[in-house]
Amino acid sequence: MARLFDGNKLVIASHNKGKVREIGELLAPYGVETISAGDLGLPEPVEDGLTFIANAEIKALAAAKAAGIPALADDSGLEVNALGGEPGIYSARWAGPSKDFTVAMAAVNEKMGDAEDRGANFTCALTLAWPDGHMESFEGKVFGDLVWPMRGEKGFGYDPVFVPTGHKVTFAEMEPADKHAMSHRADAFKQLINACFRTT
Ligand code: IMP
Repeated sequence: MARLFDGNKLVIASHNKGKVREIGELLAPYGVETISAGDLGLPEPVEDGLTFIANAEIKALAAAKAAGIPALADDSGLEVNALGGEPGIYSARWAGPSKDFTVAMAAVNEKMGDAEDRGANFTCALTLAWPDGHMESFEGKVFGDLVWPMRGEKGFGYDPVFVPTGHKVTFAEMEPADKHAMSHRADAFKQLINACFRTT
């Protein structure tokens, strides 16, 4: 049995504004007050795990211990079939020091060349950690195809090149609520809520 979250305040262990916004939106219905690690001035730990879950656990644990209240971390990325799963856990790093995702999307497109398989998935690991070191982790995915050129202004990261299976528009062309209904983050979130939140 997973440990239940029975507090009313949670640290979002991320310095990425796009993720903090999406996690805040996904948590809104549960009446949980959120504060980001960035707002608390917490340092960013070194993400040297080799999986999405390992990196989410590093971030959640560091923030929970530093803040003294439970913390939720997201580690996520884009896995491209034709690139053997790259950029994967290195998705943020492909944007370079300026964190410019037009650079990262162009690099993915160039490396894919004219590969026939345009398939990719976003994966999201979510870890809820408590200051005593206990952790609960979940992983969600959404599958789709990559398009070029980029389309849309909404969302963040690689959203302008990702069209989820069965749809015609990219995540960056969709309303946030539509992305939240099907995204890798929403998938992991459902698992987290079912396991760790009282929903009645
Ligand atoms: P990290 O988890 O902070 O290492 O960074 C993950 C990176 O993956 C983000 O900076 C984004 O570029 C990308 N990513 C994760 N989730 C999404 C998403 O929902 N849309 C677009 N890009 C995403």
